[in-house]
Amino acid sequence: MEDTITQAVRKQYEAYSYPPPIEDAEAFLKQWGPLTCDPRFAGIQLWPEGRPRQELRILCAGCGSSQAPLIALNNPDCSVIGVDLSETSLAHSSRLRDRHGLKNLELRQMSLLDVGQLNRSFDLILCTGVLHHLPNPDAGLKALADVLEPSGSMGLMLDGKAARTGVYQVQDILRRLGVGPDAEGLGIARELLKFVPQHHYLFESTGKLPIDLAQDAGIVDMLLHPQDRAYSVPEILEFVAAAGLIFFGWNDNADYCADRFLSGEMLALPPAEQWAIVENLALLNARHDFFVRKPQSAHFQVRFDTDDYLSYVPHVRSGVKLAGDPNALVLSRAASQGGRDADIALGGPDAGADR
Ligand SMILES: C[S@@+](CC[C@H](N)C(=O)[O-])C[C@H]1O[C@@H](n2cnc3c(N)ncnc32)[C@H](O)[C@@H]1O
Repeated sequence: MEDTITQAVRKQYEAYSYPPPIEDAEAFLKQWGPLTCDPRFAGIQLWPEGRPRQELRILCAGCGSSQAPLIALNNPDCSVIGVDLSETSLAHSSRLRDRHGLKNLELRQMSLLDVGQLNRSFDLILCTGVLHHLPNPDAGLKALADVLEPSGSMGLMLDGKAARTGVYQVQDILRRLGVGPDAEGLGIARELLKFVPQHHYLFESTGKLPIDLAQDAGIVDMLLHPQDRAYSVPEILEFVAAAGLIFFGWNDNADYCADRFLSGEMLALPPAEQWAIVENLALLNARHDFFVRKPQSAHFQVRFDTDDYLSYVPHVRSGVKLAGDPNALVLSRAASQGGRDADIALGGPDAGADR
């Protein structure tokens, strides 16, 4: 039996499918590049020791309108199953499956809490933007951990607490106005946005409102959600440990890397402390994209606090290109949240694996 919160979440995503549906998965990938955690590109981060098998069994838990077909299209050797509460989102995914002839994609309407009932285990589980909408996110992560292979890897995304301060203030206003995720709420939210002053925390460092607020589904997902919590770095680490998993690394270390923002004694703090400080100082992470694995994979973790890194083979991460003169060895990173681009000089001790 579905509890009332899950029922409200399902209804919201049936009325306002998120992310907004796409017509053509190939065109989307051409324009935007691969999704976070696509094993075709993020394999080295998911499995620094090499992927456990070519034909990965992949679960997209809370797959939304397009994640599962996008992963299936890019990984034809792998089998992908997408599960979601929302019939509407699954119908959009199913249209993409038909359009692109994706025989490696299966879709099921179900709660991720019930994935054990599939009687399968997975090499890779992707669950992005979902667990923070569950009444009990710990139970959700535990359910996923139970179907992860011992050598498996999970790519997760949870909303970030510090950088979303403004979102929760506006959510609070809308709650006081008594509106919900429907047409009336949407109208009132649009009206309210006209009154949000430029100095409000809802505005990004670029001086713009988040791009999601340009579309109905984005406004509902961000401002009118019936069940929405965010995580700080320490809360993420506790959340992962409580499920019996290990934190295996950030998708993009650059957004957590203290060397960019701190100096001196602050850099002597343990990494988790540095990440917590950077989160509150730089406010870069409105979303936290990260990897988790089972404890037996701990020895494969990429680390720079011992001499092990001296034997690593540097690997250029997906989306990074040579900027300008090849002899200058300057890498340009793809624009990430907030539209920041960064150039990184290659060479020296920092040139290590996928930093
Ligand atoms: C913000 S969307 C993210 C979609 C997709 N993961 C992505 O990154 O594009 C959240 C999705 O999670 C689904 N969802 C929420 N709770 C769920 C649950 N308990 N089981 C399965 N899906 C769930 C919603 O229906 C919605 O499609």
